[in-house]
Amino acid sequence: MSYDFDTLKVQGGYDASLHNNAVSVPIYQTAAFGLGDSYRADRLFSFSEDDPIYTRLSNPTVDILEKRLAALHGAAGAIALASGMAAVSYALLNAAGKGGRILTTARLYGGTVDAFTSIFPDIGLEIDIIENPDDVSAFERGLKSNTRAIYIESLTNPFATIPDMNKIAGIAHSRKIPLIVDNTIATPYLLNPFEYGADVVVYSATKGLSGHGNVIAGAVIESGKFNYGSGNFPHFERPLWFLRGTDNIERNILQVFPKTPFTGRLRAVHLNYLGAALSPFDAYLVLLGLETLSERVSKQVANALAVIQYLENSPHVKWVCHPAAKNNPYKSLAEKYFPKGAGGVLSFGFKGTEEEKRRFLAATKVFGYQANIGDARSLIINPTETTHVELTPGQRELVGLGTDTIRLSLGLESPKDLIADLEQAFKEVFG
Ligand SMILES: Cc1ncc(COP(=O)(O)O)c(C=O)c1O
Repeated sequence: MSYDFDTLKVQGGYDASLHNNAVSVPIYQTAAFGLGDSYRADRLFSFSEDDPIYTRLSNPTVDILEKRLAALHGAAGAIALASGMAAVSYALLNAAGKGGRILTTARLYGGTVDAFTSIFPDIGLEIDIIENPDDVSAFERGLKSNTRAIYIESLTNPFATIPDMNKIAGIAHSRKIPLIVDNTIATPYLLNPFEYGADVVVYSATKGLSGHGNVIAGAVIESGKFNYGSGNFPHFERPLWFLRGTDNIERNILQVFPKTPFTGRLRAVHLNYLGAALSPFDAYLVLLGLETLSERVSKQVANALAVIQYLENSPHVKWVCHPAAKNNPYKSLAEKYFPKGAGGVLSFGFKGTEEEKRRFLAATKVFGYQANIGDARSLIINPTETTHVELTPGQRELVGLGTDTIRLSLGLESPKDLIADLEQAFKEVFG
């Protein structure tokens, strides 16, 4: 049977009969699992039997989340991690390894952009940033002989711009490298990047996936269709002693994980040795959040539409950035990629002085002033001084991020109260 998204988000990956018929997914709060006899241990440690050994590597609660995420994307495999940053950095390290390059844009989460200069070069990973991601041919021109992946966000923060994913995937595939997509803001409810050529999808599950602002979590998901045996990824083809079978013969990643080489390597290497494991309790919270993903995100999209309409008519607003706003240049890409709406994150230009902007931020009562998005509660922030503070003036200019920018992440409150809150905050500042 193949089930629809809304059935999978509640039931996918879980067979209650294997867990004492528990209706809610049990939290396996244990560090280690009994190995049984030493012959079973041989099979477990040689990846020949797929049961849990130790919670840093796998855990039944986390495993159900991974299976559910894979099912929601029609994907071959998934790995859950302790944060979105772990998901982003492990995925890029896995693709490029030592001496490889990643081709990307500056339209990314500020922490990701900062990691490009703060840590990745120190561990042998070089990043190339193209200036104008709206010009798809720039991706073609930006490729170098050792580029090992193209990395984009499907819906960007804070301006909700949309890359032409299908075309960018075509460019990646023409060079036998994968397209890795951060789909955090979109969530799989609004967009399944695998339907548009992505090979690997990463999430900060801290945001809309879990949706209640109560957990830090991440995930990497793979289509299972990309060929890592083309010669471009020697680290997937090199036989390793720690991957040996029960016969003591060395094997490579492609032999041990033929269906899920990307997430298989992430687990065997990155999770194993760098260790950003998601706790079973946090996996449980993400599973709980996923149960209402469609309902939450569609309400957030509806709230965004109402707030956009209000902002567009406010004398205190210079511009509104979201594909649903008037004259937005991403309307046709939004029709193609986001028929259910382009998410609940938007930005607007505040018409006033820096001091007035700060007073406005202090005056909202329903919108919370926090560095997060995708929460059930509506949030407001000034990105240049907070979430994107790491960006150099040059990088800010590249993404068009001015100090007048205010970002909103719409939650699940009444749209009437949200609009009234913005209105009273403007009144507080401007009278
Ligand atoms: C698009 C995107 N990717 C990755 C991250 C990092 O996620 P986390 O905070 O869960 O580490 C964030 C965090 O804001 C994000 O917005």
